[in-house]
Amino acid sequence: MKPVHGPQLVALARQHGTPSWIYDAAVIRERIAQLRQFDTIRFAQKACSNIHILRLMREAGVKVDAVSLGEIERALAAGYRGNDANSGIVFTADLLDRATLARVVELDIPVNAGSPQMLEQLGQANPGHRVWLRINPGFGHGHSQKTNTGGEQSKHGIWHEHLDEAYALIDRYRLDLVGLHMHIGSGVDYSHLAEVCDAMVAQVKASGRDLRAISAGGGLSIPYRVDGERIDTAHYFSLWDKARQQIEAHLGHPVHLEIEPGRFLVAESGKLVAEVRALKDVGSNHFVLCDAGFNDLMRPAMYGSHHEVTLLTADGAVKHGPTRPTVLAGPLCESGDVFTQEEGGVVAPRALPAAAVGDFVVFHDGGAYGASMSSNYNTRPLIPEILLDGDQARLIRRRQTVAELLALEDI
Ligand code: LLP
Repeated sequence: MKPVHGPQLVALARQHGTPSWIYDAAVIRERIAQLRQFDTIRFAQKACSNIHILRLMREAGVKVDAVSLGEIERALAAGYRGNDANSGIVFTADLLDRATLARVVELDIPVNAGSPQMLEQLGQANPGHRVWLRINPGFGHGHSQKTNTGGEQSKHGIWHEHLDEAYALIDRYRLDLVGLHMHIGSGVDYSHLAEVCDAMVAQVKASGRDLRAISAGGGLSIPYRVDGERIDTAHYFSLWDKARQQIEAHLGHPVHLEIEPGRFLVAESGKLVAEVRALKDVGSNHFVLCDAGFNDLMRPAMYGSHHEVTLLTADGAVKHGPTRPTVLAGPLCESGDVFTQEEGGVVAPRALPAAAVGDFVVFHDGGAYGASMSSNYNTRPLIPEILLDGDQARLIRRRQTVAELLALEDI
């Protein structure tokens, strides 16, 4: 069973209301420490983009990736700069909308280009701009087909057979090529990770270019199920370090090695706390309904993702006792608003102790792609985020109000 400090979670839930996100800074710092061998750890902030989390990352020496204008502004708000020599921010995407193009040029933010058009538009706007090339090596992997970002089914990166066009544009606009980048998917297992290293070496050799850096992308998985596999980060580093050494031997100078994780750094730091509000038996299924929905935690509905769950009594004790097959669901107006389901939407009852109205439900490992993928569906306000750091608990995002939602339409 995943560990919880029930009384503290329940006290915070009572203070800030449910549902709420609660993060533990110590877990994030531990995960950063596990990746220190890489020259640069670049946090893929899409996983958890709260400014206070970004500030924690910056203070720990972690750089940041941005994939939208909004994420650039978040990084700036957290104190990152676009134009420092070490690229505090890199913008990674497959297209540049007009507003973002203007902003990356204004702030001199290096662009990791996933299409030739990005190079063309950037080159026209600002010849000489720093760029990375994101390569789709022709294969990919992910915990779900939706998170596999390599191969023919994926829109991401520049297809490995079409790089000549990219290099020609780099020459035409005298773009400053920093390095090559490969991110083949999210929730990737070992065999695929090793394959990317080989592909990177081959691509650097084929490019005929001088490069300062390579990026391993993100994709490291975490053990969502208690018995799940944990990526051995030292072994992972050694795979990439070997690739880097081959590249250095080829180029004749040192090459900077980046990694760009999202999930690995934050997933295990975050818990979603909700309150049980209703119980019902529907034919053979026993439903427990809590006040968090897929608008708060999208991953089970979107990918059939598994999140471990702990039930707490109203005073914070972990519930034990006989279990029964339970379908844990939320308040939304869709049958897919179920936290215990498989990919494709089939409900998958889970053995849980008998729940009562007023119990609390703790969803584990929601720090990555939890709050950042939440929405206002059913006109539900975004929920609070709280950061535990030592003996301090700080509200780092307050609950949105319904009035704030309605105000956007008051025109
Ligand atoms: N770099 C790039 C270019 C990416 O697109 C991503 C994730 C990452 C790094 C970080 O990947 P990570 O280390 O977190 O696996 N919503 C899905 C995950 C989508 C990931 C999208 N890109 C989920 O909840 O599992």
